[in-house]
Amino acid sequence: MARLNWGMVGGGKGSQIGPAHRLGTAVDGKYSFVAGALDVNADAGRAFAQELGVAPDRAYGDWREMLEGERNRSDRCDLVTVATPNATHFEITKAFLEAGFHVLCEKPMTMTVEEGEEIVKIAAKTGQLCGVNYGYSGYSLVRHMRAMVARGDLGDIRVVVAEFAHGHHANAADMDNPRVRWRYDPAQAGVSAQFADCGIHALHMASFVTGQEVTALTSDFAATVPGRVLEDDAMVSFRMDGGAVGRLWTSSIAVGRMHGLTLQVFGSKGGLRWAQEQPNQLIWTPVSGRNQIIERGEAGLSPEADRASRVTMGHAEGMPLAFANIYSDLAEVIQARKEGRAPDPAADLYPKAVDGLRSMAAVHAAVASAKADGAWTDARPPMLR
Ligand code: NAI
Repeated sequence: MARLNWGMVGGGKGSQIGPAHRLGTAVDGKYSFVAGALDVNADAGRAFAQELGVAPDRAYGDWREMLEGERNRSDRCDLVTVATPNATHFEITKAFLEAGFHVLCEKPMTMTVEEGEEIVKIAAKTGQLCGVNYGYSGYSLVRHMRAMVARGDLGDIRVVVAEFAHGHHANAADMDNPRVRWRYDPAQAGVSAQFADCGIHALHMASFVTGQEVTALTSDFAATVPGRVLEDDAMVSFRMDGGAVGRLWTSSIAVGRMHGLTLQVFGSKGGLRWAQEQPNQLIWTPVSGRNQIIERGEAGLSPEADRASRVTMGHAEGMPLAFANIYSDLAEVIQARKEGRAPDPAADLYPKAVDGLRSMAAVHAAVASAKADGAWTDARPPMLR
């Protein structure tokens, strides 16, 4: 099977997330990295793309140049990843979708709910795929949690507890660090800092695993480091459309916590606990039963988990391989279209524009609720009410 052509906007040298995307696309041999506008600095972007093996004529200085350069090529990009800072996602994603490219956009997909709705409409109108990189949903055992919930192992889902609490922005002396500062600057970060940056990963996981969508929420935001106007800590309670109750804590000042994404799901028949820092083990406890450790790669897991697992059990699989599963799903759908066949239905698990939209509605609802002393607020996007 011919490899798909893959291009990237953002993710330049030294960026946080660029390497994970490059690893994720490389793992299964389904993509060739053929084009990129990798850096806000044109020369640095061109040089780095070539260093990574991109041909000089496809190592672009700017995403508009890339769009024009790729648009009419017979071997143009099949998929473009957008991994630039948040405020640029909407414009770049919109432009590539409208030019007929499939896109995988980093989260948050947009800055406003209106922009989110526009992306959903453009993807539907153009028929292009628009994935959103909630990459942690690619983990094998996260997909197994989802399968266990769907087949009823947990019974009725009562409570979901999601956390994404790290301590990397706790030092007030870091206020002027450019990589920290923008995240708390409303002009660059938008209406929310920590909830929009990390909280939405946890919220997406709660929906992905339970199969339920968030309908309403109440939130309490705190900006604890002096000088910050946007929150660095948030507690959010939410209700879901299948009857589950959700609790979410997100923080960037939780000193000592490293990554800090965890998910716990409690149902009438049992409970599940999973942590991103130990992604190859899942704790399952049937009601009145003992704690059991489910290992990634062991026999008897769901087809969803098996499909997302590569390395023999006992060897660690980590975050870039979770991203690889998102890329693998997208490759299957894109390849199927090229071949004029139906895609494997199992590939439909990748997060989509509608998930990016739901997150943005939740962010704006959380901000409004926090301003209104925690008033319960509708968290659904208007177009989905
Ligand atoms: P970063 O600041 O480390 O890197 C951003 C990169 O984009 C830099 O190389 C910069 O030169 C480049 N860039 C900026 N403007 C550009 C433009 N107009 N055209 C081309 N390149 C441009 O940022 P980081 O942490 O890598 O975040 C990028 C995005 O990825 C953000 O939206 C962030 O929320 C998201 N992210 C997602 C994660 C996930 O788990 N899904 C984890 C970390 C970040």
